[in-house]
Amino acid sequence: MKKESFVSIAELSKDKILYLLEMSKEFEKTPNRKILDGKIVATLFFEPSTRTRLSFETAANRLGARVIGFTDPKATSSSKGETLKDTVLMVSNYADIIVMRHYLEGAPKYASEKAPVPIINAGDGANQHPSQTMLDLYSIQKTQGTLENLNIFLVGDLKYGRTVHSLLMAMRHFNPTFHFIAPDELKMPEEYKLYCKKNNIRYVEHTEFTDQIIADADILYMTRIQKERFTDLMEYEHVKNSYVLRNAMLANTRSNLRVLHPLPRVNEIDHDVDNNPKAYYFQQALNGVYVRQAIICDTLGLSLETIKD
Ligand code: CP
Repeated sequence: MKKESFVSIAELSKDKILYLLEMSKEFEKTPNRKILDGKIVATLFFEPSTRTRLSFETAANRLGARVIGFTDPKATSSSKGETLKDTVLMVSNYADIIVMRHYLEGAPKYASEKAPVPIINAGDGANQHPSQTMLDLYSIQKTQGTLENLNIFLVGDLKYGRTVHSLLMAMRHFNPTFHFIAPDELKMPEEYKLYCKKNNIRYVEHTEFTDQIIADADILYMTRIQKERFTDLMEYEHVKNSYVLRNAMLANTRSNLRVLHPLPRVNEIDHDVDNNPKAYYFQQALNGVYVRQAIICDTLGLSLETIKD
C-alpha cells in the first residue's frame, strides 16, 4: 500500500481527481464501511473549524478508525514553544495519518516532509484548502452532471479565500470560464491570474454584483470576507458588507444554477435564499463526508477496488 500526503490540489492530475470523485460516490452509496478498523486518525487544528474537522472525524468514524487530536493549540505543548516538526513527529508515534489545519501557508507541506505518516491539508492560511476543493468538485459534478465547460462565478473575498484559490487550480482540467466578482481591495491575486493565463483558463473580473452579471452562471460560489486575515481592521470594516446574495437575484438565473459556499457564512447570503432549490451549500457540506472518506482511504493506500470488496 503506497501512502501519500494530500497537501496541494495543484499536484493532482485530472485522472486522480476523477478517481477520487468516483471513490466518493461509492461512499455516498454506503457510508458505513469498517475498512479502517485498528487505524488512528489524528486531527490537529491550529485554527478554528466546524465542518472540516467534524466531517473528517465523521468520515474516520464511518470507516471504523479511531480519532485523536486537538482543536485548541493553546492547550497543547506548541504553546510552550514546541516546534511544528516535533509536534508532527510525536503525533506520528500515535496515529497512522494526520489531518492538519494551520494558519501558516505551507505548514502542511512542511509537515509532510518531516512526518513519517501521511499529512492531509485541512487548510493553510490563505493558501489552499484541497479537501474543500474536492467536495466542491463533487458538488459541481453532482448538480451539473459534468465538470466540463462551466461558467463559474466566484464572489467575495478572492484575495484571502483559500477555497477559491484551490478551486481555480483544480478546474484547469475542465475548460471553465471564471468570473471573479470582488471589491478592488479583495481582488483575485496576480499570482492566480497568472496561473489562469499559463493554464489557458478564461476569466473576467467584475466589481458589481447584480442579477444581470450572474445571468449565465452555472455555479455561483459565494465566500465570506475573511476577517481573521486582515492586518488592518478598518479595511475589513470598509469591505465587510460588499456583496449580499438575495433571493430575488436568483429569479432570472439559469435553471441549472446552484449556489455554493464553503461556509461558514456571515451575511453574504440572505437566509431567504436557503429555501430556494438553487441553494446547495448545506448539501455541499454533507458531500464533504464522502469525499473525505475517499481522501483518507486513498492517502492510506486503499484503492477503489479495495473499498468495494
Ligand atoms: N469550509 C470550511 O473550511 O469550514 P470550517 O472552517 O468550519 O471547517
